[in-house]
Amino acid sequence: MTRLAVIGAGSMGAQIAQQAALAGVDVWLHDTSAEQLEKARSSNRGHLMRRVEKGRLDAVAAEKALSGVRETTDLLEAVSRADFVIEAVFEDMQVKRSVFAALDQAAPPDAVLASNSSTMGISKLAGATSRPELCVNMHFFNPVLVMDLVEVVRGPQTSDETAERAMSVAREIGRTPVLINKEIDGFIVNRILYAATQEAYRLLDAGVASFEDIDVAVEKGLNWPMGPFRLGDFTGLDVTFKARSHMYESTGEERFRPSPQLEAKVRAGKFGRKTKEGWYRY
Ligand code: 3HC
Repeated sequence: MTRLAVIGAGSMGAQIAQQAALAGVDVWLHDTSAEQLEKARSSNRGHLMRRVEKGRLDAVAAEKALSGVRETTDLLEAVSRADFVIEAVFEDMQVKRSVFAALDQAAPPDAVLASNSSTMGISKLAGATSRPELCVNMHFFNPVLVMDLVEVVRGPQTSDETAERAMSVAREIGRTPVLINKEIDGFIVNRILYAATQEAYRLLDAGVASFEDIDVAVEKGLNWPMGPFRLGDFTGLDVTFKARSHMYESTGEERFRPSPQLEAKVRAGKFGRKTKEGWYRY
């Protein structure tokens, strides 16, 4: 049985830990902020209680899964016995590299260090450790409690055993993994998502249709649960903009240049649901 530690209790880390506990995995959740851990606990409780109310989860199983996530602000307590660590901190290279360096010191020498980054290939982080062969990307999707996929991405130094271990940990926590053999910006899903949503932004920028109608067209015509603009608001337009800017800067390809209307929203502080306004008002 895996002894898992999840580092960072934002919405991704909180739900990765909760999903693992639901699957019966031994898990610690770490954040430097006690307040963030409290937020994570309360948000996870809300999600599991909704399942109980809908009759989809037994109340006893929900309480067990909630108490199964052990929280701590002490990194050593979180990882000293872990054999698998998933980092899900803020999407910033320096922050992630310093977390990887700290994990290298605090976690057992044979523990795998995985990153949930959606934009940074593991080769950018593994160099901060003395164990690059044990480092790998494990990219979950938002919301983790609902979305079944995990992209496991090998870096040039990731060993076969580490990639296999990441695939098996994803299955152990009840998720379907796919293996990406080459480090590539955007992995699989975000490349396909960006291609489709960039086209949606181009249609909007060219005045072809309103964003509301583009959403309706994609929801009804392609059966996406959310059209590209609703999904942007859900994910966070700041996150979407940052990811697109990263793709544009790293590839230099014009097709990834962020839309001027998206940039204007971000500059105006309209990030979507979390700021109560993005493309839509909440
Ligand atoms: N966290 C956890 N669970 C959530 C949730 C959240 N934020 N929002 C909704 N849910 C759960 C609900 O509790 C409910 O669970 P249940 O079926 O067990 O009762 C279920 O999702 C359905 O919720 P609702 O009935 O309230 O609403 P919808 O049917 O509209 O579904 C949705 C909401 C699941 C978010 C759905 O709209 C959806 O799948 N949207 C697309 C999400 C998507 O594409 N994610 C990928 C984004 S890309 C990404 O993550 C890459 C990264 O790099 C940024």
